Amino acid sequence: MREIYLDYNASTPIDPAVADAIRPLLQSTFGNPSSAHWAGTPAKAALDSARGEVAGLLGCDPDEVVFTSGGSEANNLALKGVFFALKDKGNHIVTSAIEHPATITTCKFLERLGAEVTYLPVDHYGRVNPDHVRGAITPKTILISIMHANNEVGTIEPIAEIGRIARHHGVLLHTDAAQSVGKIATDVHALGVDLLSMAGHKFYAPKGVGALYVRRGTPLEPLIHGADHESGRRAGTESALLAVALGAACKLARDLAPMERVRELRDDFWRALQHHFEHRVVLNGHPEHRLPNTLNVAFPRNVGADILARLDGVAASTGSACHSGRVELSPVLRAMGIAPEVGMGAIRFSLGRSTTRAEIDRVVEQLIELHSTEPLSKAEPRRSRRADPSGVRPRRGRTRGRHRLSSHLP
Ligand SMILES: Cc1ncc(COP(=O)(O)O)c(C=O)c1O
Repeated sequence: MREIYLDYNASTPIDPAVADAIRPLLQSTFGNPSSAHWAGTPAKAALDSARGEVAGLLGCDPDEVVFTSGGSEANNLALKGVFFALKDKGNHIVTSAIEHPATITTCKFLERLGAEVTYLPVDHYGRVNPDHVRGAITPKTILISIMHANNEVGTIEPIAEIGRIARHHGVLLHTDAAQSVGKIATDVHALGVDLLSMAGHKFYAPKGVGALYVRRGTPLEPLIHGADHESGRRAGTESALLAVALGAACKLARDLAPMERVRELRDDFWRALQHHFEHRVVLNGHPEHRLPNTLNVAFPRNVGADILARLDGVAASTGSACHSGRVELSPVLRAMGIAPEVGMGAIRFSLGRSTTRAEIDRVVEQLIELHSTEPLSKAEPRRSRRADPSGVRPRRGRTRGRHRLSSHLP
């Protein structure tokens, strides 16, 4: 079996340049960055330099960067931090129906604490309408949180336009850029955001590190109280090691040229699928406003996980999730109004810097081969939709093998 990794939206390998950058810290720079002596000084210098790299990528000042454990913590800090800081001013948050669970479940938690949350709908491509954002704002609105790009279909949201609306109404804007950093430009001033989340493991840094950009002056209550690390916004001795890894990944991410090669490969992949499968394959997500590496396709009247299980050595994700033995449409595809018999056949291929043309060719060949043994779109639903409107049954014993099903796509 030859392994082909096409799940870069789930996680990326550590780039060799990132590994090189952290090696000295693994071997010698062990001091506490807060210590004033010889052991702390190089750790503090490494931390400062890493903060500068993150700021350089985002176009902000280093003191506006708060290191976190990843994207989930950054989203939690943004949403809870603003809510706790501004709850006397208002309790209303505007978000969208297709956010990552790190945003949606945080909003659900805040609702239990008295927040009112508007979950805006999206169009068929997964885009939020800025007019809907404008229409949702009330005198009680304290925060708008709309993701920069969706993890599942790659659709890019009109953040700059939403930013102008937010500023006009004096409302803070947070964007979850966990999927966009390193793939498209993420300058915080061009986007007009007050808060922006990033996750290191989505762009060639290790898991366990991320950052939240907090525009200077933005009211934010810390979630972890303690000493004054991260300028009082997140207590706990900083990991210079992980910060340096994130900084090195941000330095690499400044050069978006490699993503153009990825975009070409991704577009050729889609053209090949269209050529061979014609109407039997459907694109999910926006045709243009989409991450350059993401190709979410559906084979109608199939189960995406069934197809993936039949591909040899291909790591990709499916938009359908298995609950009590029944396949259900992902919340993102459901919010986009994708018909169940289409969406259940969705597969998310996400390419990365190391993806080769030969790998894409092999996946296409495998799909053609599969189709020649059992036509992909001729397969009838396993149960009639009338009897089971939310889903079709997966093939027995196939979907629980190498491709685990979960309730969301990371
Ligand atoms: C859009 C988005 N936001 C947030 C996260 C969470 O990031 P992390 O895994 O670093 O907590 C992810 C990861 O799947 C994501 O895709």
